[in-house]
Amino acid sequence: MSYADAYKDCAWMDFETLEKFMIDSLMAVGINETDAKIIGDVLIESDKRGIDSHGIGRLKPIYIDRINIGIMDPVTNIEVLKDDMSTAVLDGHNGMGHVVGKKAMEMAIEKAKKYGTGMVAVRNSNHYGIAGYFATMATDAGMIGITGTNARPSIAPTFGVENMMGTNPLTFGIPTDDPFPFVLDCATSVTQRGKIEVYGRAGKELPPGWVIGHDGSTRTDTQQVLKDLTTGQAALTPLGGIGDQTGGYKGFGYAMVVEILSAALQDGAFMKELNGFDENHKPIPYPLGHFFIAIDPARFMGLEVFKRVAGTICRQIRESEKAPGEDRIYTAGEKEYEAFQYRSKHGCPVPPSLQKMMIELRDTYKLNYSFNFEKK
Ligand SMILES: NC(=O)c1ccc[n+]([C@@H]2O[C@H](COP(=O)([O-])OP(=O)(O)OC[C@H]3O[C@@H](n4cnc5c(N)ncnc54)[C@H](O)[C@@H]3O)[C@@H](O)[C@H]2O)c1
Repeated sequence: MSYADAYKDCAWMDFETLEKFMIDSLMAVGINETDAKIIGDVLIESDKRGIDSHGIGRLKPIYIDRINIGIMDPVTNIEVLKDDMSTAVLDGHNGMGHVVGKKAMEMAIEKAKKYGTGMVAVRNSNHYGIAGYFATMATDAGMIGITGTNARPSIAPTFGVENMMGTNPLTFGIPTDDPFPFVLDCATSVTQRGKIEVYGRAGKELPPGWVIGHDGSTRTDTQQVLKDLTTGQAALTPLGGIGDQTGGYKGFGYAMVVEILSAALQDGAFMKELNGFDENHKPIPYPLGHFFIAIDPARFMGLEVFKRVAGTICRQIRESEKAPGEDRIYTAGEKEYEAFQYRSKHGCPVPPSLQKMMIELRDTYKLNYSFNFEKK
């Protein structure tokens, strides 16, 4: 989908109003101000970085609706189950994933400052938003950050059609001497549900190769796919795609790595146990697991050396010969940095479906807002 297509009909809203609206909406469903600010910060960061699938678009369906149907606790009580030098295990007690995630990465960074590396596993959590938020907490502290999370089962294994694994992002943040860090922040599937929702909101068919049906062939019917993904009648394809000719087994392997590291270190739920529905198809909590790793380059050859080499590698890649018809090579994190620069001036795009959702939330919770997209 072209840029113009994607943002056609959008209103543009400034960061501050959008973030404040998200915080106020979260507080209206029982989240305390401190936690609402953390969640608002993760969500607005997604919109700032141009990751439209995971910002304001997720506010109602993934957080507010789930709190309202009682499957996610707006009060986040974090319990430290184990804390042993460079490692720890936290229990989120079905609270807000962003809040537990932030605490866990803060602990991993503190441990890395003390011991060179830190790793924290989290159990009983919920959807934590963009994994890259936590990876850049580490890069902001001059550390390498790695994080992953399991999710509701949606990826089929290579040679399979059943949704077995979550979209399981495996995310790396690496400090560089460029104006922005290297941040590889993506799912281990070809695409993830949020992007399919973006296509759904735009009324577009999916590109082939993203979703596999039970007959083993690709599906492009966006609206039905969104329904079938929740009932298991369709599955996402692993990175590399359907079958093994284009290396689908590699994405499948990485998705399994994340599934194992997200669950096995904290004896947590995995795969079908994270379905989110009971046998009568009634929504139930699905206790997600995450892991957070921080590594201090200062303990190796020094932070400045690390940043210089990492930055040089990025620059040499970007400067290498382009394919015919292409004028740029990007390195991970660069598009998000550019989106941030653009949106800092112009604001974030809010499509009509999200405008409607914001009006609905405002009216439901009697929040004092009049939006720039409303007819006067
Ligand atoms: N919490 C969850 O359960 C969950 C699950 C899946 C995904 N997510 C989040 O969804 C977001 C989007 O995931 P996605 O899989 O759709 O990501 P994506 O396919 O949009 O890929 C994004 C990554 O690829 C890099 N990139 C994009 N184009 C590039 C290019 N031409 N050259 C080099 N690098 C390029 C970006 O810098 C970024 O690091 C992420 O923030 C992820 O953390 C969260």
